[in-house]
Amino acid sequence: MSAPVKDPALRLDFVQPGIARITFDMPGSRANTLNQGVQSEFENILTQLEATPNLQGLIFCSGKPGMFIAGADLKELASVTPPSPPLPGGEGRPDARALTLRGLRFIARFEKLPCPTVVLIDGGCMGGGLEMALAFDYRLAGTNPKTEIGLPETKIGLIPGWGGTQRLPRLIGPSIAAEMICAGEAAKAQRARAIGMVWDVVPSAKMLDEGLRLLAWSRESGEWQKIRTKKQQPIGLSEDQHQYTFGVLKGQVLAKTKGQFPAPLAAIEAIAKGCNLTLEEGLKVETDHFIPLIGSTISRNLIALFFMGQRLAKDTGVADAAVQPKDVNRVGVIGAGIMGAGIAGAMVRKGVHATMIDVAPELLAKGVAAITKVIQTRIDIGRATQTELASAAALLNTTSNYGQLADREVIIEAVVENEGVKTKLYRELQTILSPDAILASNTSTISITRMAEAVKNPANFAGLHFFNPVDRMQLVEVIRGEKTSDQTVATLVALAKKAGKTPIVVKDCPGFLVNRILFPYLNEAMVLLEEGVEPRAIDKAASEFGMPMGPITLSDVVGLDTAVYAGEVVNRAFADRAQETKILGALVAAGRLGQKSGAGFYSYAKGLRGADDPALLPFLEKCRTGKRTIDAEEIRDRLFLPMLVEASLVLSEGIVRDPSDVDMGLILGIGFPTQHGGLLRRADNVGMSNILTLLAKYEALGKRFQPTPQMRKMVASSKGFFPA
Ligand code: NAI
Repeated sequence: MSAPVKDPALRLDFVQPGIARITFDMPGSRANTLNQGVQSEFENILTQLEATPNLQGLIFCSGKPGMFIAGADLKELASVTPPSPPLPGGEGRPDARALTLRGLRFIARFEKLPCPTVVLIDGGCMGGGLEMALAFDYRLAGTNPKTEIGLPETKIGLIPGWGGTQRLPRLIGPSIAAEMICAGEAAKAQRARAIGMVWDVVPSAKMLDEGLRLLAWSRESGEWQKIRTKKQQPIGLSEDQHQYTFGVLKGQVLAKTKGQFPAPLAAIEAIAKGCNLTLEEGLKVETDHFIPLIGSTISRNLIALFFMGQRLAKDTGVADAAVQPKDVNRVGVIGAGIMGAGIAGAMVRKGVHATMIDVAPELLAKGVAAITKVIQTRIDIGRATQTELASAAALLNTTSNYGQLADREVIIEAVVENEGVKTKLYRELQTILSPDAILASNTSTISITRMAEAVKNPANFAGLHFFNPVDRMQLVEVIRGEKTSDQTVATLVALAKKAGKTPIVVKDCPGFLVNRILFPYLNEAMVLLEEGVEPRAIDKAASEFGMPMGPITLSDVVGLDTAVYAGEVVNRAFADRAQETKILGALVAAGRLGQKSGAGFYSYAKGLRGADDPALLPFLEKCRTGKRTIDAEEIRDRLFLPMLVEASLVLSEGIVRDPSDVDMGLILGIGFPTQHGGLLRRADNVGMSNILTLLAKYEALGKRFQPTPQMRKMVASSKGFFPA
């Protein structure tokens, strides 16, 4: 037997004669995760149990309230993966295989213990945690609301590799299991029972008693042996069932992922091939599908994304750890339009009292109706309840009387995008607001530093830029003006999180973070159009790269008038890199404003999906400077390289504090494809010297294709945006 571990995560004791209990409680951590050290401890305990005479039962539980097992230790997983994309059968694979087999082996040993076994799951039970639990004869879920059970591996570009693709289908059926694994979604306790993932749901405080009762009953009845025998056998789907089940699933996954994410498809393959084999053979199939995904570029990108999300979740928004955000419970929202109503709705849904103001009662009524509609839609799809609607309604009040803002801790202004209107309003508010209230503007284009001149205390003034539609867009840019205080920034960051959003702190500059980097992309799309490329070809190149829609469609959706207006702000500020084009102005002048007016680049006469429109041709012909055929690769490079140059400048100017702010901002703000890990991480993957070679190809087109000093330095020092 190996030497005792210093700070053990596992404890073995006997709760009754012959009834062993393993308690998992990782020292110094809020979560239990599965790493190599913990596996060694499991192996030691298993050896002990295997040598215990007259073992009557085994209970496995967590020592942490509301937390069972969070899954594999992702830091360790990321470090065992090879540093460069692995070649088939190449470098790094043997390690990954050895590691996988080790996990499979120790988990299978639970299935061979000579007594019934039960897991008590009270809290999150994810990934490897569930895969372990599946090797037990019984699972009991606790009533703790944090109890959630699932296999989220596909979300990090992997499949469950410790038996999840084989044992879960045997337990709940291949179809539901595959759906859960492909979506990476977890089930709450009651649903877990309904689909047969757990034996029962019992009060958290009574789990041990219930576990003991279950063990005694199973020992008497011998049921545990039947469970084990059945689990080892093939599920036995008929050929028709097999073809139908997996054909439909594959179609659904392809429709959702457009074939850009290999993990869900690999999971379906592993389940499909394994379900008519014995468990042992099935596990081999799983391993064969699992290994190639470990260390793949997509998986590494998705794991990095997970860590970027964690960083933002912990980020207070300021460097000074002594700054404490104020807990905000009462906000005022001025403007009940698209954005104001969205923001007030987000606040009341999360328990923050909101007073919404507009100039006329009918506008307020429209705002309230919009808020109600969002919650009602969620009720219709089973994501909210009538009670939530009632409590949100109770937290919302509307008025035209600014006096009612006197007790508000934060006031968010979302009136029309007009600097004069906004600053006049701020001046009027100065005598009404409490002296320490924070005033924040939802402006998308106006300088926060300049507007701060209209308020008495610019330290308490900032931008709070929500994205449209507020109920679906997670990103909020917290814009720091020159005089905005740390306290204000930290409080707005905390408030945005309270409203369920992901805030990113951005220094005031034209376009802030997301629009500043988006506009070079939209601008280049217009340049390409005028050089002779067809709108569809541009959209296709962007979609194939993974963007949710191409830049031409995006312009139509945003509204061409808005694109012209916001584009001017950014393009004027960065005139050396912007390229003047005529097409947008010409379309707007003709009343073609995009989706909202029925036509823009495409026609929307027959619905929200844009159709090719012959009426566009005369506009294009008038604005075109050429009729060059440009291939998809050049279109893609031309769209994304100017974004990268701008992003590098944003970083160099200290507009954001970390490269992951850029990547997360673009992922959450414009749907930049997660499989690439983000704009900057993709550049790191491609390699900066390769990027410079690409830029050199387009150098003649202008400064937007000129490498920044930061990029040149990276090549010289062989560094990337992120540490290796
Ligand atoms: P909107 O036109 O839908 O709503 C503005 C509302 O403000 C109107 O109901 C208007 O009656 C009201 N209003 C005007 N002056 C007022 C005053 N003095 N007191 C009270 N209410 C007043 O505009 P939207 O789209 O909601 O935009 C609001 C702000 O949000 C603008 O600054 C805009 O740039 C920004 N924004 C807009 C986004 C969008 O996609 N619509 C996205 C992000 C920011």
